[in-house]
Order: sequence, then C-alpha cells, then structure tokens
Amino acid sequence: MSFNNKVVLVTGASSGIGAAAAEAFSSEGAQVVMVGRNETKLSAVAAKCNKPFVIRADVANDDDARRIIDETIERFGRIDILINNAGVSGVAKLISGKIIDIYDKIMPINLRAVVLLTSLATPHLIKTKGNIVNISSVAARLMDSRSGTAMYNVSKAALNHFSLCAAEELSRYGVRVNTISPGPVVTDILVNTNAKATWDDFKKITCLDRVSDPVEIVDLIIMSFKNKVVLVTGASSGIGAAAAEAFSSEGAQVVMVGRNETKLSAVAAKCNKAFFIRADVANDDDARFILDETINRFGKLDILINNAGVIIPESILNVNVLKSYDTTMGINLRAIVHLTSLAASHLIETKGSIINISSVGGQMVPRPGSGFSMYYVSKAALNHFGLCIAAELAPYGVRVNTISPGPVRTNIFNDLNIDVDNFCNSTALQRVSEPKEVADLILFLSSDKAKAITGSNYVIDNGIFICRAMK
Ligand SMILES: NC(=O)c1ccc[n+]([C@@H]2O[C@H](COP(=O)([O-])OP(=O)(O)OC[C@H]3O[C@@H](n4cnc5c(N)ncnc54)[C@H](OP(=O)(O)O)[C@@H]3O)[C@@H](O)[C@H]2O)c1
Repeated sequence: MSFNNKVVLVTGASSGIGAAAAEAFSSEGAQVVMVGRNETKLSAVAAKCNKPFVIRADVANDDDARRIIDETIERFGRIDILINNAGVSGVAKLISGKIIDIYDKIMPINLRAVVLLTSLATPHLIKTKGNIVNISSVAARLMDSRSGTAMYNVSKAALNHFSLCAAEELSRYGVRVNTISPGPVVTDILVNTNAKATWDDFKKITCLDRVSDPVEIVDLIIMSFKNKVVLVTGASSGIGAAAAEAFSSEGAQVVMVGRNETKLSAVAAKCNKAFFIRADVANDDDARFILDETINRFGKLDILINNAGVIIPESILNVNVLKSYDTTMGINLRAIVHLTSLAASHLIETKGSIINISSVGGQMVPRPGSGFSMYYVSKAALNHFGLCIAAELAPYGVRVNTISPGPVRTNIFNDLNIDVDNFCNSTALQRVSEPKEVADLILFLSSDKAKAITGSNYVIDNGIFICRAMK
C-alpha cells in the first residue's frame, strides 16, 4: 500500500491508536494532519512523523471542528482519508446519580464530533473519492453492568450504526466508510479514565490471553510470508487462485489444491515454486493425502485457507434437493471440518492460522426462485463452525477467521451462466469485486499484523448488506 500524496486527517493523534496511525501513514508517504488537545503529546508524536501538520483542537467544540477542516483544506487543498479516532471513556453506574455527567462527557467526543467532522469533511472526500475509518470498540456489543462503562458502550454502538448509515449514504458518491472495533489495546485510555481495571484484567477476558499494541490496529501495511507454508484449497481458479498468487509473491511456499489439473498448472505457472495437489477435498482419503503430502514435503503448516466451494442450485420443491444438499454440504462444510481437524495439530505447532471463505449468503436469505438455499445454509453453518473452532483453538495460539465476500468475478457464477455484473445494482458501491480484492484481505487476516484478530467474520461485499437493509 502506498499513501504518497494522500492527505490523511487523524483525530486523537496525540497518543495510542491515533498516534500509531499517524506514524504508520506518515511512513507510507502520506501527508498526515494530526489533531489532539495535548500539545506536549502531539509534539512528541509529530517528532516521529515526516512533516506532519499539527492542529491543536477539541473535536467536541464546533468551532474547532470547522477550523480543523478549514485549515486542512487551506494547507493541502484536499482530504483523502478521515480517521475518526478521538475518543474517551468514563465509568459510572446508573444508580450512582452521576450517569448523565458521564454521558455529557463521552457522547460529544465519541459520537457528536464524529457526526460533525464527517459532515464537514464529506464535500472534500467526495472530490477525492476518499474514505472514512471510524474507530469504535468491541464494547459496543458488551452489557457488563459491573464495569459501569454503559455510556461508553452506548456511544460506540451508536457510532457503529452511524457508520452504517453514512456508508450507505456516501456510497453513491464513491466514498467508503468503515469501522474498526478493537478489543483491549494498551493506550492511555485507562489512565485518562481513572479506571480501576488494569491491562492484566483485560487480558483475562480474551481467549488469546493477550491485549493488543496500537500498532496492530493500524499496521495493515507490510506483510511478509517468507518461509511460511500456506495450504489453499480451490486454488485452481477465482479467489483461491488469486490467494495462491498473492501468497507466493509475498514469499510463501504455497500448496495449491484443486481437482482440475490443467487449471492448477496454469495458476502454478504464475506462482513462484508452487506445489499443487490434485485432490477432491470432499473425499476423506484425498483430504488425508493433502495433509500428508504437505507435511512430508515441507515439514510444517502455517496457514490453512479453506476456500474450495460450490453452488448447486436447487429448489426445496424439487425432490433432487437432497442431492444439492449432500454435494454442497460435503464440499462447503464437511470437507472443511475434516481438513481443519487434520491440520489442527500442525497449526498448533506453528501457532498458525485458518481462514474460512464463507459468503454474505451465510447471513442472508436468497431471493425466491434462485435455488441458492442449500448454499446459504452451508455458509451459515461454516460461519458458526469458524466461531466454535476459533474458541477451541485460541488456547493453543491458533487464530481462526472467516471472510464473507459478496459477488466476486469468478467461475462460480460463469459455471451457472449467471452474469456477475447483474449484482452491481444490489450493492451500495454499484460494483462487484475482483478475486484479488478478497486475496488482499486473506493475506492481511492470516498475517502477523492481524495477531489480535480471531473469531472475526469480515464482510467484503461492496455494501450489499447496507443496500438490502434499506429495501
Ligand atoms: N464468487 C463469488 O461471488 C463468491 C461470493 C461469496 C463467496 N464465495 C466463495 O469463494 C470460494 C471460492 O469460490 P470462487 O468464487 O473463487 O469460485 P471458483 O472460481 O469456481 O473456484 C472454486 C474453487 O473450488 C474448487 N473446488 C470446488 N470443489 C472442490 C472439491 N471438491 N475439491 C477440491 N477443490 C474444489 C475449484 O477447483 P476444481 O474445479 O479444480 O476442483 C475451484 O478452484 C467458495 O467457497 C465460494 O463459496 C464466492
């Protein structure tokens, strides 16, 4: 990724995640605009960046918010990326009588300021077809009355929903809006909140028994897979082929699995020393063969990409529906359960990771008449399988994540004589993805840069969900 000539505005850049983001963007060539209230801390971070533009301002003050955008435009004439990161926490229980004081402290910064800055930045972001990243928190989904953080949790839940609404509204102007929801990250937030909890307390509530460093949240940048052994199923075309090529170009030893030898050879020819195994993942002997061959040849396995999948359309009104069920579930679910169990002990040795390729279909119902029910059911089951094994393997240091693509230009639709471009109108961004876009996400999630991420299900759908939610 290069951010040369991009103007990136980061709020809350004086410490923690915002500071790490400012440094990372700066080292990637961006012109960073750093916003914060504490001048001493801002200067310390600025000293580590390349010619940043520092604005001392309180995002919760409307005049300051306008000044932030005006000064940025005056200086650089554009904004490409807005990182709404500034946030505060605060503790008060409902029965304490102080809840409204905490509400009034948190909401103006964590929500109102984001709404105002977003609306002020929007005309400029439309011009650059830029994007917005809102830093939320897993707390948006928590309801722990003992901690007294209800108002913080509420602010982040509201921020998540604001992001969805903004993503839908701005998608038609080519501006993307996304949210990042970190779990515990070691920053100044506990000190600033006068919280009694320590980072060790937070460690205890995570499956991986660790808390994150701010760099993990922003470091989506340099990934190396040198000496990693990566097994990709369904590597003969589409997303699997793109993933095999991408891993290979990052230095990994790729083991490619598929049934069609001609196609496998064609993809292998684009990779560096790729090793391919012609096998049917739904065949139990073949599955054992895949793992045995990989371990015999390379002695270890670092990353398993369970990508092979099929769509066998059939209506529930047709007696053949069980045929569709058996084949679909055999490849899209049973084979993944089997391969994962065969790979688990090897992944534990390398503290490796697993990525399951699901689909947005796992969280939706198909359009009547499409015959996609069995496919959607298989992906819904795969989503839950991903969660269950993420919990089971976390104590061994193995991460498990799911990716749910929307429509991607691959053979899966060609083979059904469906023009994938027909789906453009169902997406907020009015486009479908190329396989490489999913491969990029696969690489990130399986890299050490994502060491804090397990049990996630990343949607990469050009906004199909938000589009459906409106209808
Ligand atoms: N394209 C999309 O819009 C989209 C959207 C959401 C999710 N996905 C998911 O993405 C994954 C990859 O699909 P794709 O879109 O890249 O489609 P694709 O181009 O048709 O690729 C499917 C791959 O799976 C392999 N495969 C299928 N059955 C297999 C079996 N029994 N054993 C071994 N390999 C098998 C195929 O290889 P051989 O034919 O050589 O066996 C092929 O390499 C699937 O899990 C799919 O559900 C795709």
